[in-house]
Amino acid sequence: MPGAIWRFSVRTKIIVATTNEHKLREIGAVLRGYRVKGQGSRVVEDGKTFEANAIKKVRSLKLKEGEIGIADDSGLMVNCLGGRPGVRSARFATPPTAENLCRKLLRVMRSRSANRRASFVCVIAVKWPAGKIRTVKGVVHGRITNQMRGSHGFGYDPVFVPSSYKKTFAEMSAAGKNRLSHRGRALRHLKKLLK
Ligand code: IMP
Repeated sequence: MPGAIWRFSVRTKIIVATTNEHKLREIGAVLRGYRVKGQGSRVVEDGKTFEANAIKKVRSLKLKEGEIGIADDSGLMVNCLGGRPGVRSARFATPPTAENLCRKLLRVMRSRSANRRASFVCVIAVKWPAGKIRTVKGVVHGRITNQMRGSHGFGYDPVFVPSSYKKTFAEMSAAGKNRLSHRGRALRHLKKLLK
């Protein structure tokens, strides 16, 4: 459409750089009404920051004319571990199943149980049809439990309780988690950019 002015509408397709069905569902729920589709990205997530990885992932998307690309890079930062696992959250245990990730975290923290404060961080990079890239960020503070609780969600959800709450993310409904979560917060910032 040379010369045409591009305008965002709910019919615009948003392509998400992920094969993680849980992430995609959470993103689709907050961006309800928009056309959201996942696309695998094969990039090596070797950036030192969530921003660097999110931008790398969004750049790798194959977008058709008029489509918007988004990529989420997220992770858990634990205070007594100096912010680890952080950008390496997905690779903290081998094999990196949710169960292994949670169990390893609880094991590593056993001797440091006094300070269990932690934060989930999510950075979403968005690539507009003209090529411009921006990032938005969402953070939720909370603490790490002493044992896994709940069966919803993914990753570290069974061991994270947001501040002022008693339930882990894995004990909350999808809507309940999205209202409080790092991803829900980043997505609500993103929605403002899309208007
Ligand atoms: P990446 O963003 O694909 O590099 O991976 C982020 C990793 O951080 C996931 O594989 C999970 O282990 C963890 N993570 C990110 N967001 C969440 C969440 O909402 N709940 C639980 N774990 C999460």
